[in-house]
Amino acid sequence: MKKIYINGGKPLLGSIEVGGMKNAALPILFSTILVEDKCIIENLPKISDIKTTLNILTAMGAKIRELSNGSIEVDTKVINCGSMPDELAHTMRGSYYVLGAELGRFGWSEAAFPGGCDFGSRPMDQHIKGFEALGATVIENEDSIKCSSENGLKAASVYLDVASVGATINIMLAATKLEGLTIIDNAAREPHVVDLANFLNSCGADISGAGTEVIKIRGVKTLHGVSYAIIPDMIEAGTFMIAAAATNSTLTITNVIPKHLESITAKLLEMGVTVTELDDAVIVSRNGTPLKRIRVKTIFYPGFPTDMQPQICVLLCLAEGQSTLTEGVFDNRFKYTDELIRMGANITVQGRTATIEGKPELHCANIRAVDLRGGAAMVIAGLATKGVTWIDDIYHIERGYVDLIEKLRAVGADIKKVDIPDITPNGN
Ligand code: EPU
Repeated sequence: MKKIYINGGKPLLGSIEVGGMKNAALPILFSTILVEDKCIIENLPKISDIKTTLNILTAMGAKIRELSNGSIEVDTKVINCGSMPDELAHTMRGSYYVLGAELGRFGWSEAAFPGGCDFGSRPMDQHIKGFEALGATVIENEDSIKCSSENGLKAASVYLDVASVGATINIMLAATKLEGLTIIDNAAREPHVVDLANFLNSCGADISGAGTEVIKIRGVKTLHGVSYAIIPDMIEAGTFMIAAAATNSTLTITNVIPKHLESITAKLLEMGVTVTELDDAVIVSRNGTPLKRIRVKTIFYPGFPTDMQPQICVLLCLAEGQSTLTEGVFDNRFKYTDELIRMGANITVQGRTATIEGKPELHCANIRAVDLRGGAAMVIAGLATKGVTWIDDIYHIERGYVDLIEKLRAVGADIKKVDIPDITPNGN
C-alpha cells in the first residue's frame, strides 16, 4: 500500500515549475479522434489520467509514440468506433469525451459511464441535450450511453442550463465537422475550453467565441494534424500558491498564466499573503503574518475554482476567526473536511457551506486522500503541520499531479512516498 509521509512544519523556499493542464490535455487528446491524422502534443502532464487516456486511444486503434523530447505523437487515422474498454472509461471523468468525438467523426458513439471524483450527483443531461439538439438519438443503458443518428446530424443552437465544462466540450467535439453553424449559449468559459478550441482551430476547425458565453462552431469537412503545446495547469499552480501561504514560505511558481490565477491571487491578498505577478510566474510569500478570515464561494470561471476549494479550506483552518466556504458548483465536495477535522480543524458543514473557526495550528494524524483535490489539500495540511502526517489512498492524487513529491522535496519539504507491504493476520 502506497502512502505519503510528511514531516511538516518546515518553511519551503525556491522555485516550482507547473506542468500542462490535466483538464485541457484530456479533451485535446480525445479530440484527436476527429483529426484522423498525426498530431504531436507537447507539455502533456504525465499523470495517471493521461496514461489512461493514451491506453484508451491505443485500445481504440490509435498509434501512440513517445518522442525523445517527452511529447506524444498520436495517429488517429484508424479508430474503431465504440471500442473504448469499459474498465478504463470507469476510472476517470474525461472518458466521456469519447462520446462527442466519436459522434463528430462517425455519426454514432458508445461509451461506458465515466468515473472520476465522487462529489454527489454528476448528471450528463446537458451533454445529452446537446447531442439531441444536433439530431442524435441518445439511449442510456444501465452502464453505458449510446448515441446514433439515423437521419444524420445537423448543426443547431443549444442553450445550456448550466455552464458545464464537460457538456460544452462534448458539444464542440460533436459539431466541429458538422455542416452549418452550431451555437452553444451559456457555454463554460474555463481556460481549458479555450485551449481545446485553439487546438481544433490550429487543426483547421472554425470555432469562435471560446472563453465567452457564446461559442460558434462552423463545421469544416476535414481537419489536419499539428504540433500543439497544452497550457499550464492553473490548479496545480494554485495548489503550490496555497502551499506557500500555509507553510509561511516564499515560492516562485513558474510556467503559469497569471491571468488564470486572478481569483486565487485575489483571495490570498485578502488574507494578507503577498503575491507578486510576473509575466509567466507568480511569487507567493508569507512571513509569519496572521491569515485574515475571509468568505470564499466557488463558481464557474472566472470565479474562484471549485478545484481549489479543498486547498483553500486548509488555509481558512489556519486563519484568525471564522471564515465561510461555499461550494457553488457541485452538490457535495466537502468529504475531505472529515480528514482535516482529524487533524484538529474546526469545520462545520451545512449543505453547500462550511463554517471554519481558524486556529494557529493543526496536529498531525493519519489521514486519507478522499479525492484528487481533497488529496492535494491533505498534502498542504501535512506540510503546514509540525510532526509526521501519513496520507493514504494517494492514487487519487496521482491522477492529477505530476511529480508532486519530487517538486516539493526540491523546495525543502520533508516528504516521501512509502510503499508499505500489506500485512494480513495469518501472514498470507
Ligand atoms: N452538470 C449538470 N448536467 C450536466 C453536466 C454538468 O447538471 O450535463 C452540473 C454538474 O453536476 C456540476 C456542474 O454542472 O454541478 C458543473 O459540472 P461540469 O460539467 O462543469 O464539470 P465536469 O465536466 O464534470 C470538469 C472537470 C472537473 C472540474 C469541473 C468544474 C474534467 C475532466 N473535470 O468536470 O475537474 O471540477 O469541470 O470546473 O475536466 C478535477 O480536476 O479535480 C475536477 C474534478
